[in-house]
Amino acid sequence: LNNGLALTPQMGWNSWNFFACAINETVIKETADALISTGLADLGYIFVNIDDCWSTVSRNGKGALVPDPKDFPSGIKALADYIHEKGLKLGIYSDAGMFTCQVRPGSLYHENGDAQLFASWGVDYLKYDNCYNLGIEPKKRYPPMREALNATGRTIFYSLCEWGEDDPALWAGRVGNSWRTTQDINDSWASMTTIADLNDKWAAYAGPGGWNDPDMLEVGNGGMTFEEYRAHFSIWSLMKAPLLIGCDVRNMTAETLEILSNKEVIAVNQDPLGIQGRKVSAEGSDYCSQVWAGPLSGNRMVVALWNRCSEPVTIKAKWETIGLHSSASVLMRDLWKHEDLGNIDGFFEAIIASHDCGMYILTPLALSNAAI
Ligand code: DGJ
Repeated sequence: LNNGLALTPQMGWNSWNFFACAINETVIKETADALISTGLADLGYIFVNIDDCWSTVSRNGKGALVPDPKDFPSGIKALADYIHEKGLKLGIYSDAGMFTCQVRPGSLYHENGDAQLFASWGVDYLKYDNCYNLGIEPKKRYPPMREALNATGRTIFYSLCEWGEDDPALWAGRVGNSWRTTQDINDSWASMTTIADLNDKWAAYAGPGGWNDPDMLEVGNGGMTFEEYRAHFSIWSLMKAPLLIGCDVRNMTAETLEILSNKEVIAVNQDPLGIQGRKVSAEGSDYCSQVWAGPLSGNRMVVALWNRCSEPVTIKAKWETIGLHSSASVLMRDLWKHEDLGNIDGFFEAIIASHDCGMYILTPLALSNAAI
């Protein structure tokens, strides 16, 4: 969507994956504090996004949405002020249907009033869900909220969440700043790998202004190993997915923070070229030995060697497979070891532990006159 936002994928935090409905203003404020104190905000994680369950189960007498007085006694405006004072941005959630998935009022046919209310509170981001949609097609239900947000005069990031039901990559580039391509992620290896593959299919449609959204991060929620979370974060970054942290950032392990704060991997995600990397080869039993790659600015490339097999394997990325000329000479850097690997020609291979992912940037060396 051409609203000046999302020139690179959005980064921040969202309440749903860890807290579900157990949210309140204290949790949100403490999360904002933790994003600052851990250094995550400085790395770009600036959106603090409230998901479902922030509102009461019915609108007030004037037809307006009301923050739950028990959990958000100070209201959303006060929360937005708190978050803005810290240099962060506040996101809220509604639904392109009669109700949200947790049966709070939805915004279908209330688009203008709700958008005005969100803008008056100082909201910077709207995630717009898909429950109780009366069977009306997403192409009809999502544009009215784009118009309503636009009419507020406030710049509001618009995140579509229609779960990939109507192939949104094909039309949502004109509607929102990101669109979910799949059903919900859960905190498991099976879910994460399935979603990565589904999202890959739409790579050609992502770019500055609008991104494919394979759902929020599960890193730090406990259902996967360190290696699996590292792969999750590597591939989401390479796929130019939104990097929305989904764990309790107030209580992260050192390992979780190490993954989420890897500057070199984040830089791949935030690369100004904005081209979604893809799976370029899959070999072995169940195609578990995989290479993912994509172009970066400055003629560089990112390559991930992803071992989805149950034992360690040597994974080889040949230059032709990743889109380089076979005689190209490149400088390689390992983004997880934070190490330069020197000049490499023709191919690169490494032993990768089960379910782990190596990630590298390849910088081409200028051809010498002798080579030409
Ligand atoms: C479905 C969405 O896909 C989730 O991300 C979350 O927002 C829940 N609804 C909330 O009910």
